[in-house]
Amino acid sequence: MKKIITVICTATLLSSGLAFAASHSNTMDDPIASRKAEMKKVGGAMGTLVKMAKGKMDFDAAAALASLKTMNEVASNFGELFPDGSQTGGKTTVSPKIWSDASGFTKSISKFEADTVSAIANAPTDQASVGATLGLVGANCKACHQTYRIKK
Ligand code: HEC
Repeated sequence: MKKIITVICTATLLSSGLAFAASHSNTMDDPIASRKAEMKKVGGAMGTLVKMAKGKMDFDAAAALASLKTMNEVASNFGELFPDGSQTGGKTTVSPKIWSDASGFTKSISKFEADTVSAIANAPTDQASVGATLGLVGANCKACHQTYRIKK
C-alpha cells in the first residue's frame, strides 16, 4: 500500500503545478491538449484521495465519490483522444506504442474504466477504506504510463 501511494504521489506531484493551466480546447481541434487536460483532472482526483488516505484532508464521502466519478468520466472518453497525427507535438509524452499496440492500449483504458466503476460501487465510507480504493484505481496509472508513455 505504501508503495502504491508513493507512486501515486509522484504522478500527482508532477501534475499539480499545471493542474489548472489546462485550456478549454476543442477535443477534435487539439487532441493533445484535451487528453493532457483530462489526465490533469485524473491527477487532481487522485490527489484528493491521497490526501484523504493520508489524513491530510478530512474524510469526505461526497468528495471521494466525485473524484472517482471524474476518473470514470475521463476513462470512458479517453480512447477518442488519440487520432492519427497526434503522435507528436504539443509536448505530448505519449509512446508510439499507443498506435502500434492499439488493442493493448484500449484494454488498459477499459480496465481503468472497469476499476473506476467498481470503486464507485464500493465507494469509501471512512478514511481507512480510501486506501483500498486507491489501491484499486491507482494500479492503473503506473501500468498504463509505464507502457504507453515516454519519460521526458
Ligand atoms: C490507459 C492509460 C492511462 C491510465 C490508466 C492513466 N493514464 Fe495518465 N496518462 C496517459 C497518457 C497516454 C498520458 C500522456 C498524454 C500526452 O502527453 O499526450 C498521461 C498523462 C498523465 C498526466 C500528465 C498530464 C499532462 O499534464 O501532460 C498525469 C498527471 C496523469 N496521466 C495522471 C494519471 C493518474 C493519477 C492515473 C491513475 C489514476 C492515470 N494517469 C491513469 C495514460 C493513462
